[in-house]
Amino acid sequence: MFSISRRSEVEPFHAMDVLAEATRRRASGHPVISMAVGQPSHPAPQAALDAARAALVKGRIGYTDALGTARLKQALAAHYRDRHGLDIDPLRIAVTTGSSAGFNLAFLSLFDAGDAVAIARPGYPAYRNILGALGLKIIEVPVTAETHFTLTPESLEAAQREGGVRLKGVLLASPANPTGTVTGREALKALADYCAANSIAFISDEIYHGLTFAGEETSALELTGEAIVINSFSKYYCMTGWRIGWMVLPERLVRPIERVAQSLYISPPELSQIAATAALNATVELDVYRASYARNRDFLIRRLPEIGLSIASPMDGAFYAYVDVTRFTNDSMALAKRMLAEIDVAATPGFDFDPMEGNRTMRMSYAGSEAEIAEAVERIAVWLK
Ligand SMILES: Cc1ncc(COP(=O)(O)O)c(C=O)c1O
Repeated sequence: MFSISRRSEVEPFHAMDVLAEATRRRASGHPVISMAVGQPSHPAPQAALDAARAALVKGRIGYTDALGTARLKQALAAHYRDRHGLDIDPLRIAVTTGSSAGFNLAFLSLFDAGDAVAIARPGYPAYRNILGALGLKIIEVPVTAETHFTLTPESLEAAQREGGVRLKGVLLASPANPTGTVTGREALKALADYCAANSIAFISDEIYHGLTFAGEETSALELTGEAIVINSFSKYYCMTGWRIGWMVLPERLVRPIERVAQSLYISPPELSQIAATAALNATVELDVYRASYARNRDFLIRRLPEIGLSIASPMDGAFYAYVDVTRFTNDSMALAKRMLAEIDVAATPGFDFDPMEGNRTMRMSYAGSEAEIAEAVERIAVWLK
Protein backbone atom coordinates (compact mmCIF):
# COMPACT_ATOMS: atom_id res chain seq x y z
CA MET A 1 0.00 0.00 0.00
CA PHE A 2 1.41 3.45 -0.85
CA SER A 3 1.95 5.95 1.92
CA ILE A 4 0.71 9.55 2.14
CA SER A 5 3.32 12.30 2.39
CA ARG A 6 4.08 14.00 5.68
CA ARG A 7 4.03 17.34 3.84
CA SER A 8 0.29 16.90 3.18
CA GLU A 9 -0.42 16.70 6.92
CA VAL A 10 -1.32 20.40 7.06
CA GLU A 11 -4.23 21.64 9.15
CA PRO A 12 -7.49 21.77 7.26
CA PHE A 13 -8.55 25.29 6.32
CA HIS A 14 -11.44 25.32 8.78
CA ALA A 15 -13.17 28.28 7.09
CA MET A 16 -13.48 26.14 3.96
CA ASP A 17 -14.84 23.24 6.02
CA VAL A 18 -17.41 25.58 7.59
CA LEU A 19 -18.29 26.86 4.09
CA ALA A 20 -18.83 23.27 2.91
CA GLU A 21 -21.15 22.54 5.86
CA ALA A 22 -23.02 25.83 5.30
CA THR A 23 -23.46 24.94 1.62
CA ARG A 24 -24.82 21.48 2.57
CA ARG A 25 -27.31 23.02 4.99
CA ARG A 26 -28.41 25.64 2.47
CA ALA A 27 -28.92 22.93 -0.17
CA SER A 28 -31.22 21.09 2.23
CA GLY A 29 -33.38 24.19 2.69
CA HIS A 30 -31.89 25.93 5.76
CA PRO A 31 -31.83 29.77 5.72
CA VAL A 32 -28.05 29.93 6.15
CA ILE A 33 -26.19 33.23 6.35
CA SER A 34 -22.48 32.79 5.88
CA MET A 35 -20.01 35.16 7.46
CA ALA A 36 -17.43 32.39 7.30
CA VAL A 37 -15.54 32.98 4.12
CA GLY A 38 -13.99 36.21 2.93
CA GLN A 39 -15.82 36.72 -0.28
CA PRO A 40 -18.08 39.49 -1.48
CA SER A 41 -21.68 38.55 -2.17
CA HIS A 42 -21.60 40.93 -5.16
CA PRO A 43 -20.98 39.72 -8.72
CA ALA A 44 -17.91 40.68 -10.75
CA PRO A 45 -18.26 44.17 -12.25
CA GLN A 46 -20.52 44.50 -15.28
CA ALA A 47 -17.64 45.44 -17.60
CA ALA A 48 -15.79 42.25 -16.60
CA LEU A 49 -18.88 40.11 -17.28
CA ASP A 50 -19.42 41.82 -20.65
CA ALA A 51 -15.79 41.27 -21.67
CA ALA A 52 -16.00 37.60 -20.67
CA ARG A 53 -19.29 37.15 -22.59
CA ALA A 54 -17.78 38.68 -25.72
CA ALA A 55 -14.76 36.37 -25.41
CA LEU A 56 -17.06 33.35 -25.06
CA VAL A 57 -18.93 34.35 -28.21
CA LYS A 58 -15.62 34.33 -30.07
CA GLY A 59 -15.15 30.94 -28.53
CA ARG A 60 -11.50 30.13 -28.36
CA ILE A 61 -10.01 30.30 -24.89
CA GLY A 62 -6.42 29.13 -24.82
CA TYR A 63 -3.16 29.23 -22.97
CA THR A 64 -1.48 32.62 -22.68
CA ASP A 65 2.12 33.48 -21.83
CA ALA A 66 2.98 31.88 -18.49
CA LEU A 67 3.12 35.28 -16.80
CA GLY A 68 -0.09 36.54 -18.38
CA THR A 69 -1.27 38.63 -21.31
CA ALA A 70 0.50 41.85 -22.28
CA ARG A 71 -2.86 43.66 -22.14
CA LEU A 72 -3.51 42.78 -18.52
CA LYS A 73 0.06 43.54 -17.48
CA GLN A 74 -0.12 46.93 -19.20
CA ALA A 75 -3.47 47.64 -17.53
CA LEU A 76 -1.97 46.74 -14.15
CA ALA A 77 1.01 49.04 -14.78
CA ALA A 78 -1.49 51.82 -15.58
CA HIS A 79 -3.30 51.02 -12.31
CA TYR A 80 -0.07 51.63 -10.36
CA ARG A 81 0.48 54.86 -12.27
CA ASP A 82 -3.05 56.15 -11.53
CA ARG A 83 -3.43 54.93 -7.95
CA HIS A 84 0.11 55.20 -6.62
CA GLY A 85 1.96 57.48 -9.04
CA LEU A 86 4.40 54.65 -9.77
CA ASP A 87 6.06 53.78 -13.03
CA ILE A 88 6.12 49.97 -13.05
CA ASP A 89 7.56 48.12 -16.05
CA PRO A 90 4.81 45.67 -17.17
CA LEU A 91 7.59 43.08 -17.58
CA ARG A 92 7.95 43.06 -13.77
CA ILE A 93 4.33 41.89 -13.44
CA ALA A 94 3.34 38.22 -13.27
CA VAL A 95 -0.34 37.33 -13.58
CA THR A 96 -1.24 34.34 -11.40
CA THR A 97 -4.08 31.90 -10.78
CA GLY A 98 -5.33 33.84 -7.76
CA SER A 99 -2.90 35.18 -5.20
CA SER A 100 -2.79 31.62 -3.87
CA ALA A 101 -0.68 30.62 -6.88
CA GLY A 102 1.42 33.73 -6.26
CA PHE A 103 2.38 32.37 -2.83
CA ASN A 104 3.42 29.02 -4.29
CA LEU A 105 5.49 30.72 -6.97
CA ALA A 106 7.11 33.19 -4.59
CA PHE A 107 7.95 30.57 -1.94
CA LEU A 108 9.34 28.12 -4.51
CA SER A 109 11.42 30.75 -6.26
CA LEU A 110 12.76 32.45 -3.13
CA PHE A 111 13.31 29.67 -0.61
CA ASP A 112 14.81 26.21 -0.23
CA ALA A 113 13.40 23.52 2.05
CA GLY A 114 14.19 24.30 5.67
CA ASP A 115 14.47 28.09 5.18
CA ALA A 116 12.73 30.14 7.87
CA VAL A 117 9.88 32.48 6.95
CA ALA A 118 8.05 34.77 9.39
CA ILE A 119 4.31 35.33 9.36
CA ALA A 120 1.96 37.06 11.79
CA ARG A 121 -0.12 35.13 14.31
CA PRO A 122 -3.09 35.53 14.04
CA GLY A 123 -2.80 35.47 10.27
CA TYR A 124 -4.16 33.97 7.08
CA PRO A 125 -4.00 30.17 7.55
CA ALA A 126 -2.99 29.25 4.01
CA TYR A 127 0.40 30.96 4.53
CA ARG A 128 1.20 28.47 7.27
CA ASN A 129 -0.20 25.53 5.34
CA ILE A 130 1.59 26.31 2.05
CA LEU A 131 4.89 27.01 3.83
CA GLY A 132 4.47 23.74 5.76
CA ALA A 133 3.62 21.70 2.68
CA LEU A 134 6.74 23.06 0.96
CA GLY A 135 8.97 22.03 3.88
CA LEU A 136 9.78 25.56 5.03
CA LYS A 137 10.26 26.53 8.65
CA ILE A 138 7.33 28.61 9.82
CA ILE A 139 8.14 31.34 12.33
CA GLU A 140 4.85 32.59 13.74
CA VAL A 141 5.32 36.00 15.30
CA PRO A 142 2.54 37.03 17.69
CA VAL A 143 0.93 40.36 16.83
CA THR A 144 -0.88 42.08 19.68
CA ALA A 145 -1.88 45.55 20.82
CA GLU A 146 1.76 46.13 21.89
CA THR A 147 2.95 45.77 18.27
CA HIS A 148 -0.14 47.54 16.87
CA PHE A 149 -1.22 44.11 15.58
CA THR A 150 1.54 44.04 12.97
CA LEU A 151 5.09 42.76 12.56
CA THR A 152 7.93 45.05 13.62
CA PRO A 153 11.71 44.79 13.25
CA GLU A 154 11.88 44.27 17.02
CA SER A 155 9.34 41.43 17.02
CA LEU A 156 11.20 39.80 14.12
CA GLU A 157 14.50 40.09 16.02
CA ALA A 158 12.91 38.56 19.12
CA ALA A 159 11.40 35.68 17.11
CA GLN A 160 14.79 34.90 15.57
CA ARG A 161 16.51 34.97 18.97
CA GLU A 162 13.89 32.70 20.53
CA GLY A 163 13.75 30.33 17.56
CA GLY A 164 17.52 30.24 17.04
CA VAL A 165 17.07 30.96 13.32
CA ARG A 166 17.93 33.60 10.75
CA LEU A 167 14.97 34.53 8.60
CA LYS A 168 15.02 34.15 4.81
CA GLY A 169 11.63 35.72 4.31
CA VAL A 170 8.92 37.84 5.92
CA LEU A 171 5.33 37.83 4.74
CA LEU A 172 2.94 40.56 5.78
CA ALA A 173 -0.60 41.40 4.69
CA SER A 174 -1.88 44.96 5.01
CA PRO A 175 -4.81 45.29 5.42
CA ALA A 176 -4.55 41.98 7.27
CA ASN A 177 -6.77 38.96 7.62
CA PRO A 178 -8.22 38.36 10.24
CA THR A 179 -7.11 41.34 12.33
CA GLY A 180 -8.00 44.13 9.90
CA THR A 181 -4.68 45.81 10.72
CA VAL A 182 -3.50 48.43 8.27
CA THR A 183 0.26 48.79 8.60
CA GLY A 184 1.03 52.48 8.14
CA ARG A 185 3.64 53.88 5.81
CA GLU A 186 6.35 54.40 8.44
CA ALA A 187 5.90 50.94 9.95
CA LEU A 188 5.92 49.31 6.52
CA LYS A 189 9.07 51.23 5.61
CA ALA A 190 10.75 50.12 8.83
CA LEU A 191 9.99 46.50 7.95
CA ALA A 192 11.13 46.83 4.34
CA ASP A 193 14.37 48.52 5.47
CA TYR A 194 14.98 45.87 8.13
CA CYS A 195 14.50 43.12 5.53
CA ALA A 196 16.80 44.83 3.01
CA ALA A 197 19.52 45.32 5.64
CA ASN A 198 19.34 41.64 6.61
CA SER A 199 18.99 40.09 3.12
CA ILE A 200 15.48 38.92 3.95
CA ALA A 201 12.89 38.66 1.16
CA PHE A 202 9.95 40.94 1.98
CA ILE A 203 6.64 39.64 0.62
CA SER A 204 3.79 42.14 0.83
CA ASP A 205 0.29 40.66 0.46
CA GLU A 206 -1.82 43.58 -0.78
CA ILE A 207 -4.95 41.57 -1.59
CA TYR A 208 -7.15 43.83 0.58
CA HIS A 209 -6.00 47.05 -1.07
CA GLY A 210 -9.02 49.14 -2.00
CA LEU A 211 -10.63 48.06 1.29
CA THR A 212 -8.94 50.37 3.80
CA PHE A 213 -11.46 52.18 6.00
CA ALA A 214 -9.12 53.86 8.49
CA GLY A 215 -5.46 54.76 8.18
CA GLU A 216 -3.33 55.07 5.07
CA GLU A 217 -3.01 52.43 2.37
CA THR A 218 0.59 52.12 1.18
CA SER A 219 1.96 49.70 -1.38
CA ALA A 220 5.39 48.33 -0.54
CA LEU A 221 6.27 49.30 -4.11
CA GLU A 222 6.22 52.95 -3.02
CA LEU A 223 8.97 52.21 -0.51
CA THR A 224 11.37 49.78 -2.12
CA GLY A 225 12.18 48.12 -5.44
CA GLU A 226 13.01 44.92 -3.56
CA ALA A 227 9.54 43.94 -2.30
CA ILE A 228 7.65 40.99 -3.75
CA VAL A 229 4.10 42.29 -4.00
CA ILE A 230 1.18 39.88 -4.25
CA ASN A 231 -2.34 41.00 -5.11
CA SER A 232 -5.59 39.60 -6.46
CA PHE A 233 -8.90 40.33 -8.13
CA SER A 234 -10.69 38.29 -5.46
CA LYS A 235 -11.59 40.93 -2.87
CA TYR A 236 -12.07 44.57 -3.97
CA TYR A 237 -12.84 43.38 -7.52
CA CYS A 238 -15.37 40.73 -6.35
CA MET A 239 -13.85 37.98 -8.52
CA THR A 240 -13.04 35.13 -6.10
CA GLY A 241 -14.19 32.35 -8.40
CA TRP A 242 -12.31 33.65 -11.41
CA ARG A 243 -9.04 32.67 -9.71
CA ILE A 244 -6.97 35.54 -10.93
CA GLY A 245 -4.27 37.61 -9.22
CA TRP A 246 -0.88 39.16 -9.87
CA MET A 247 2.58 39.81 -8.52
CA VAL A 248 4.98 42.71 -8.97
CA LEU A 249 8.54 41.45 -8.79
CA PRO A 250 12.06 42.77 -8.55
CA GLU A 251 13.49 42.30 -12.03
CA ARG A 252 15.90 39.50 -11.14
CA LEU A 253 13.04 37.36 -9.80
CA VAL A 254 10.92 37.51 -12.96
CA ARG A 255 12.65 34.72 -14.88
CA PRO A 256 12.81 32.27 -11.91
CA ILE A 257 9.09 32.85 -11.30
CA GLU A 258 8.37 32.39 -15.00
CA ARG A 259 10.27 29.08 -15.11
CA VAL A 260 8.37 27.67 -12.14
CA ALA A 261 5.02 29.04 -13.40
CA GLN A 262 5.48 27.46 -16.84
CA SER A 263 5.56 24.00 -15.34
CA LEU A 264 3.25 24.47 -12.37
CA TYR A 265 0.35 26.27 -14.08
CA ILE A 266 1.27 26.70 -17.80
CA SER A 267 -0.70 29.94 -17.71
CA PRO A 268 -3.36 31.72 -15.72
CA PRO A 269 -6.88 31.24 -17.19
CA GLU A 270 -7.33 33.39 -20.30
CA LEU A 271 -11.03 34.09 -19.79
CA SER A 272 -10.32 35.45 -16.31
CA GLN A 273 -7.50 37.61 -17.63
CA ILE A 274 -9.86 39.17 -20.18
CA ALA A 275 -12.46 39.85 -17.49
CA ALA A 276 -9.85 41.16 -15.05
CA THR A 277 -8.46 43.64 -17.59
CA ALA A 278 -11.95 45.17 -17.86
CA ALA A 279 -12.50 45.05 -14.08
CA LEU A 280 -9.58 47.40 -13.46
CA ASN A 281 -11.68 50.25 -14.88
CA ALA A 282 -14.83 49.43 -12.91
CA THR A 283 -14.01 51.42 -9.79
CA VAL A 284 -17.26 53.42 -9.81
CA GLU A 285 -19.32 50.23 -9.49
CA LEU A 286 -16.87 48.63 -7.05
CA ASP A 287 -16.77 51.69 -4.81
CA VAL A 288 -20.53 51.32 -4.30
CA TYR A 289 -19.87 47.85 -2.84
CA ARG A 290 -17.02 49.23 -0.82
CA ALA A 291 -19.37 51.79 0.70
CA SER A 292 -21.74 48.98 1.74
CA TYR A 293 -18.85 47.17 3.51
CA ALA A 294 -18.07 50.44 5.27
CA ARG A 295 -21.68 50.63 6.53
CA ASN A 296 -21.49 46.97 7.65
CA ARG A 297 -18.27 47.80 9.47
CA ASP A 298 -19.85 50.77 11.30
CA PHE A 299 -22.81 48.60 12.25
CA LEU A 300 -20.63 45.78 13.62
CA ILE A 301 -18.31 48.10 15.52
CA ARG A 302 -21.39 49.40 17.34
CA ARG A 303 -23.51 46.26 17.64
CA LEU A 304 -21.06 43.41 18.37
CA PRO A 305 -19.85 44.77 21.73
CA GLU A 306 -23.51 45.39 22.70
CA ILE A 307 -24.22 41.67 22.35
CA GLY A 308 -21.11 40.62 24.27
CA LEU A 309 -18.70 40.05 21.40
CA SER A 310 -15.88 42.48 21.96
CA ILE A 311 -13.73 43.35 18.97
CA ALA A 312 -10.24 41.91 19.36
CA SER A 313 -8.28 43.90 16.75
CA PRO A 314 -8.46 47.11 14.69
CA MET A 315 -10.99 46.49 11.83
CA ASP A 316 -9.22 49.27 9.89
CA GLY A 317 -9.26 47.37 6.62
CA ALA A 318 -10.27 44.14 4.82
CA PHE A 319 -13.81 43.00 5.71
CA TYR A 320 -13.52 41.07 8.96
CA ALA A 321 -14.49 41.49 12.58
CA TYR A 322 -12.20 39.39 14.78
CA VAL A 323 -14.14 38.98 18.01
CA ASP A 324 -13.36 37.74 21.49
CA VAL A 325 -15.86 35.01 22.49
CA THR A 326 -14.49 34.28 25.97
CA ARG A 327 -17.60 35.69 27.64
CA PHE A 328 -19.43 32.66 26.26
CA THR A 329 -16.91 29.86 25.73
CA ASN A 330 -13.31 28.75 25.72
CA ASP A 331 -13.89 26.67 22.60
CA SER A 332 -14.67 28.84 19.59
CA MET A 333 -14.68 25.82 17.29
CA ALA A 334 -17.58 24.26 19.23
CA LEU A 335 -19.33 27.64 19.34
CA ALA A 336 -19.06 28.06 15.56
CA LYS A 337 -20.44 24.55 14.99
CA ARG A 338 -23.37 25.11 17.34
CA MET A 339 -24.10 28.52 15.84
CA LEU A 340 -24.39 26.99 12.39
CA ALA A 341 -26.45 24.02 13.59
CA GLU A 342 -28.83 26.04 15.79
CA ILE A 343 -29.30 29.42 14.08
CA ASP A 344 -27.83 28.87 10.61
CA VAL A 345 -25.14 31.52 10.94
CA ALA A 346 -21.67 30.52 9.79
CA ALA A 347 -18.52 32.19 11.16
CA THR A 348 -14.93 30.96 11.32
CA PRO A 349 -13.36 29.71 14.55
CA GLY A 350 -10.20 31.64 15.45
CA PHE A 351 -8.20 28.42 15.46
CA ASP A 352 -7.77 28.82 11.69
CA PHE A 353 -5.80 32.00 12.21
CA ASP A 354 -4.17 31.34 15.55
CA PRO A 355 -3.34 27.76 16.57
CA MET A 356 -2.29 28.96 20.06
CA GLU A 357 -5.09 31.28 21.17
CA GLY A 358 -7.73 30.91 18.50
CA ASN A 359 -9.99 29.01 20.89
CA ARG A 360 -10.85 32.48 22.28
CA THR A 361 -11.80 34.17 19.02
CA MET A 362 -14.04 33.99 15.98
CA ARG A 363 -13.84 35.79 12.63
CA MET A 364 -16.92 37.24 10.98
CA SER A 365 -16.74 38.45 7.39
CA TYR A 366 -18.81 41.54 6.64
CA ALA A 367 -18.50 41.29 2.85
CA GLY A 368 -22.14 40.19 2.59
CA SER A 369 -25.16 42.44 1.99
CA GLU A 370 -26.21 44.88 4.71
CA ALA A 371 -29.53 43.06 5.19
CA GLU A 372 -27.76 39.71 5.65
CA ILE A 373 -25.23 41.05 8.14
CA ALA A 374 -27.95 42.76 10.19
CA GLU A 375 -30.08 39.59 10.20
CA ALA A 376 -27.10 37.41 11.19
CA VAL A 377 -26.18 39.67 14.11
CA GLU A 378 -29.76 39.77 15.38
CA ARG A 379 -29.96 35.95 15.26
CA ILE A 380 -26.70 35.77 17.23
CA ALA A 381 -27.93 38.38 19.75
CA VAL A 382 -31.06 36.38 20.55
CA TRP A 383 -29.14 33.09 20.64
CA LEU A 384 -26.39 34.33 22.95
CA LYS A 385 -28.97 35.56 25.46
C1 LIG B 1 -4.69 37.59 3.23
C2 LIG B 1 -5.13 36.74 2.08
N1 LIG B 1 -4.27 36.46 1.10
C3 LIG B 1 -4.63 35.67 0.06
C4 LIG B 1 -5.90 35.13 -0.04
C5 LIG B 1 -6.21 34.21 -1.22
O1 LIG B 1 -6.91 34.82 -2.21
P1 LIG B 1 -7.01 34.39 -3.74
O2 LIG B 1 -6.22 33.14 -3.95
O3 LIG B 1 -8.46 34.21 -4.00
O4 LIG B 1 -6.42 35.53 -4.52
C6 LIG B 1 -6.85 35.41 0.94
C7 LIG B 1 -8.20 34.84 0.87
O5 LIG B 1 -9.01 34.95 1.75
C8 LIG B 1 -6.44 36.24 2.04
O6 LIG B 1 -7.29 36.52 3.03
